[in-house]
Amino acid sequence: MTIHAGATIDPGATVAESVTVWQGTHVRSGAVIAANTSLGQYVYVGPGARIGAGCKVQNGAYIYEPAEIEDGVFIGPRVVLTNDRHPRAIMPDGRQKGPDDWEPVGVTIRRGASIGAGAICVAPVEIGRWATVAAGSVVVDDVADHALMAGVPARRIGWVGRSGVTLRRSGGLWICPVTGEAYEESAGESSIRRIDPTTTGL
Ligand SMILES: CC(C)(COP(=O)(O)OP(=O)(O)OC[C@H]1O[C@@H](n2cnc3c(N)ncnc32)[C@H](O)[C@@H]1OP(=O)(O)O)[C@@H](O)C(=O)NCCC(=O)NCCS
Repeated sequence: MTIHAGATIDPGATVAESVTVWQGTHVRSGAVIAANTSLGQYVYVGPGARIGAGCKVQNGAYIYEPAEIEDGVFIGPRVVLTNDRHPRAIMPDGRQKGPDDWEPVGVTIRRGASIGAGAICVAPVEIGRWATVAAGSVVVDDVADHALMAGVPARRIGWVGRSGVTLRRSGGLWICPVTGEAYEESAGESSIRRIDPTTTGL
C-alpha cells in the first residue's frame, strides 16, 4: 500500500494492500478500495462507497456514497458521482436537514467502463460494462454495455469495444479497429454483444 503523507484514510475504511493513494485524497469510514486501484490527488470517496480492483481514479474525482464501482473502471479527472437526485439543504418549513432527512441514491459503474474528464453521473444511474462516457457529459439515464455516451444530457453516439476505441460498422457488424473483435447489435440497436469468433468463423 502506498499512501501519500497528505492523504486521509478514516478509521473504518478498508483499503487493500496494493492500493496507491495520492496527496489530499480523503477516504471516508466504511469505504472499500480493492487491490491495485489507484486514487489520484484530491479524490473524495464517501462513507460506504465501494471501488473494485484495478481501477484508476484520476485527480479531483468526487465519489459520493453509495457509489458502487466494479473492477477495472477508469474515472477521469474532476468526475462527480452524485447521490441526491433532488437535493435541498433545508426542509420545506425551513428547518435544517439532518443526515436522516434524505435517502442517498448511488451511481453503479460496471466492469471495464470509463468516465471521461469532468463528466457528471447523476444518481440513481447505472453505467454498463465497457461503456465510455465522453469528457464533460452529464449522464442522467442508465447506459448500455459498450455504449459511447456524449453530451448534456448524454446520448449514445456510438459503441466502444474493450479497448475503449469507437467501433466501426462493417457490413452488419461492428468491429474494434484495435482488437478486431466483432459485435452485433440486438434489441433494436439498443444493445450490442460481442461475437465469439469460434462460433462465427471470423
Ligand atoms: C468521446 C470520445 C471517446 C470520442 O473520441 P473519438 O472516438 O476519437 O471520436 P471523435 O473525436 O471523432 O468524435 C466523434 C463525435 O463525437 C463528438 N465528441 C467527441 N468528444 C465529445 C465530447 N466530449 N462531448 C460531446 N461530443 C463529443 C465529436 O464532435 C464528433 O461529433 P461529429 O460526429 O458530429 O463530428 C473522446 O472525445 C472523449 O471524450 N474521450 C474521453 C477523454 C478523457 O476524458 N480522458 C480522461 C483522461 S485525461
